[in-house]
Amino acid sequence: MNNSKPDIKHLFEPRSVAVVGASSNPDKIGFKILDNIISSGFTEHVYPINPKGGEILGCKVYPSMEDLPEAVDIATIVVPAKYTFDAIRDCAKNKTQFLSIITSGFSEIGNLKEERDMVRFSHENGMRILGPNIFGVYSCKHPINATFGPKEVERGHVALLTQSGALGIAMMGKTKAENIGLSAVVSIGNKADIDEADLLEYLIKDEDTKVILMYIEGIKHGQRLIRILKEATKLKPVVVIKSGRSKRGALAAASHTGSLAGADEIFSDVMKQCGVLRAESIDEGLNWCKFLSETSSPSGKNCVIVTNGGGIGVLAADACEKHNVNLMDDLQTMKEVFSPVVPDFGSVKNPIDITGQGTLEDYEKSLFEALKHKEIDSVICLGCQTAVLNAKGLKESVLKISEEYKGSKPIVYSYVGGEEIEDSIRYLRSKGISVFSDVYDAVGCLGALYFHYQNMITPREEIKELPMDRQTILGIVDRVKQDGRTFLLANEAQELMNAAGITIPQSKIATNLDDAVRFSEEIGYPVVMKIVSKDIIHKSDAGGVALDLENKDEVVDAYQAIMINARRYKADAKIQGVEISEMVKKGIETIIGARQDEAFGPIVMFGLGGIYVEVMKDVSFRASPIGKTQALSMVKNTKAYPLLLGVRGDEQKDIEGTLDVILRIGLILDICPSISDIEINPLVVYDEGQGVKAVDVRILLSK
Ligand code: ACO
Repeated sequence: MNNSKPDIKHLFEPRSVAVVGASSNPDKIGFKILDNIISSGFTEHVYPINPKGGEILGCKVYPSMEDLPEAVDIATIVVPAKYTFDAIRDCAKNKTQFLSIITSGFSEIGNLKEERDMVRFSHENGMRILGPNIFGVYSCKHPINATFGPKEVERGHVALLTQSGALGIAMMGKTKAENIGLSAVVSIGNKADIDEADLLEYLIKDEDTKVILMYIEGIKHGQRLIRILKEATKLKPVVVIKSGRSKRGALAAASHTGSLAGADEIFSDVMKQCGVLRAESIDEGLNWCKFLSETSSPSGKNCVIVTNGGGIGVLAADACEKHNVNLMDDLQTMKEVFSPVVPDFGSVKNPIDITGQGTLEDYEKSLFEALKHKEIDSVICLGCQTAVLNAKGLKESVLKISEEYKGSKPIVYSYVGGEEIEDSIRYLRSKGISVFSDVYDAVGCLGALYFHYQNMITPREEIKELPMDRQTILGIVDRVKQDGRTFLLANEAQELMNAAGITIPQSKIATNLDDAVRFSEEIGYPVVMKIVSKDIIHKSDAGGVALDLENKDEVVDAYQAIMINARRYKADAKIQGVEISEMVKKGIETIIGARQDEAFGPIVMFGLGGIYVEVMKDVSFRASPIGKTQALSMVKNTKAYPLLLGVRGDEQKDIEGTLDVILRIGLILDICPSISDIEINPLVVYDEGQGVKAVDVRILLSK
């Protein structure tokens, strides 16, 4: 038994490597991987394993791992599934550190037990598993290409982690075509053992890796991933492409990898919370990676657009709004900088318009001024093909600017025109310059850079403890469990809200008519009456709710009607009584929820509440615990925010009180993990300083 874990460094920087199932047949994967390893320059300490022995590609073949002269860092296993466990046992005898299991036929087709057994055995023997169901690992250290992907890999600064094998191999090919250099490629497949978080631990410290790109289908250990992503994005950009956005896509992804994809909205919001950039497509992801790996950080937020066309300039300004790129609006400075170089008939307001008559010299002069000026932090250069602006000259001009200023200040280009312009774009891209035919693509790159930059400079938020009566919360939940229920009754939920410091409307449970009347008078009319019975969950459906009761007579009538309705709805229902509560004043109705998410653990949710929830689906999520700044960003991400600020001369609402409830509701789940769902709908928010009220609260326990 050897339970120590090998250092992940040796997966990226192996000193020796074996290929179990190496074959002399060039059509087999066992040949291709060996060929790639040797072709990448890793020629010593390479051990093909095959019972037939002999020699493959000039390397001595060993009959088994036991025969090797040294313990290896990586054994790539490429034998059929039914022989894989035997091969793993063999590797244990060799004291191998990492097993890169190419073989398919495990959890992805329902063969979970064998996969789990392989992991258990490997851990007991000090080994870790990459895969199974993968195409291998490439690292620019040494370098080593232990994949059956493309033989030649461009060395560079983007690390690619991919759950999909075929797409990963295709992306390796595409990065080469797009001239994007790679620092590492790891296929993670079924993630039986090693997952993104393990690999990120190495990559965030790796100096060769400037940007990390992940293709994800499903998350397995979300809370750990969140922790490491938050750390990673403080140091370098992380871009994620996740499939499974649509319901159909999610189904395909789940069956493809055997792992469960979290709800897409939650995934997006949690990634944003971690400072991760989510790309919509492979092209977008690769564009961002290329730009981010080559440009320097901006030193501020002032961006200037230089254009020869008004229309394309306005398009870019729209794109800037979409991608949160801030256009410089200091007119005085822009006039001083650009007046000497922009023709009289042009514009020195942002976008700087050198007009359709603008020559390449005018362009160059404006761009050089922009790139030189200390108040201008980034530049978007746009061009429409005109008779004055020829494609050939354009190519040379961009190269000249790029050579002189490469990387010193972020600059993106977009050119629109015919075949010659398209040729120039292809040529310039092959030189590593971020040029696009679509303005939105160009501005999107800058938006990605600013998102990352903003995340880097934003200090980490301290998460404060809030005073709560933990003992009472745990006690209520214990009682419910002992009662064999997985939901809290209304009075229990209210008691829990009180213990958590969340304001609820005044209410009391009456077990007879006299008490119902007495409590109504104590609380003050108008009041609401609701049935309390663990056998009746949908109270309105059962005719168990009466609103706006204004006097004693109405209370008496409502009490009798509710009792009759309840008996009619479920004759054997055990009725605890009725709940009398204050009729809540009108305010802004919001919804605040928290749930144990399968992928990410405790998640909090905020949105417009009441009847709008279903229609608008205007909610935002964060992984708990969060601080006040994150809670505010959640609120700002919804349409509830302008309402809370006060529309049409309305008073500003109690935003502070709302944030407090968001934080508390997340903490309840941290205190008591057996609560699976809490939903306050509505949480009515009153004018600033007047507080909030949790009107309806539902709490469920995990089954
Ligand atoms: N030790 C050493 N060698 C062995 C052992 C053993 N215990 N058992 C068998 N071998 C040898 C075989 O004799 C053979 O060598 P040979 O060509 O000299 O006869 C070699 O290992 C390979 O065994 P084969 O039975 O020929 O298996 P084959 O190469 O056809 O398939 C593979 C093996 C590739 C692992 C297959 O089972 C498989 O899983 N394929 C799918 C791989 C995959 O797609 N992974 C996901 C990648 S990502 C994506 O989707 C692109």
